[in-house]
Amino acid sequence: MNQKVTVPELRRRKQSGPKITTLTAYDATFARLFDEAGADVLLVGDTLGMVVQGLSSTLPVTLEEICYHGRMVARGIQRAHLVLDMPFMSFQVSSEKALEAAGRLMKEGAGESVKLEGGVAVAETIARIVAAGIPVMGHVGLTPQSIHAMGGFRVQGKGDDAASRVMEDAKAVQDAGAYAIVLEGLPADLGRQITQALSIPTIGIGAGPDCDGQVLVCYDFLGMFEDFKPKFVKRFAQLGAEIRRATEDYVSEVRSGAFPAEEHCYGVGKPAAETGTPQRPVYGPASDES
Ligand code: KIV
Repeated sequence: MNQKVTVPELRRRKQSGPKITTLTAYDATFARLFDEAGADVLLVGDTLGMVVQGLSSTLPVTLEEICYHGRMVARGIQRAHLVLDMPFMSFQVSSEKALEAAGRLMKEGAGESVKLEGGVAVAETIARIVAAGIPVMGHVGLTPQSIHAMGGFRVQGKGDDAASRVMEDAKAVQDAGAYAIVLEGLPADLGRQITQALSIPTIGIGAGPDCDGQVLVCYDFLGMFEDFKPKFVKRFAQLGAEIRRATEDYVSEVRSGAFPAEEHCYGVGKPAAETGTPQRPVYGPASDES
């Protein structure tokens, strides 16, 4: 499965599988690792405001910031499909402004498709962007850009009326031409019903096991974001603890003089003529000793 993942391929997964594996990514190094390990889709989500910038919501994230991180992530990708999030207020004012913003994400951010939050209310906007040849991934249910309207990060679609509204939103996004849709923070039953009702793939985050794919925020699944842990997050590694341990070891070895040791030093024990400036830049490709 080394072929580039495309929008038509993602659509096909609805019928033929396998499930779509999606992770957020915000820089080239993480993107390369996720891409090499087989993630199908990498999303530069506006969660970067929370997990990278340390903000308490996604609202302040700008189009320029998504473009900047998009370019970085693109450099780490060979196979995965790259989706860029449309940040808060980049698509709500008018369809024309939304199209301009989506175009910038593709031109300046190296996106291969864009994602935007909302259902019935943004259907016309999705149609406008799709008509311009830009593939759109929808996002319904818990939509973090509406955190204040929702009264916090709360599960959506509980109860018949609320569930019907989310179903209507999902269908409106599909009818507007989206190629896939994120279902966030929904009861697992509703995640299954929407997945069965739609002909486009659903990608769940806290929406149960029956979606056509799953997405997690990379700092969550790696156990690096420790401020809070939503119920739907599984930590597949404990890198937060590992990074803390490594840092403590580094601090202690620098203080004790154990680091750097002889093998980390240039020219130790060699005649003066051989001990000049290293031949590779400090951050250049690794060739061990010069
Ligand atoms: O911004 C983001 O990272 C997202 C995912 C959580 C789906 O929208």
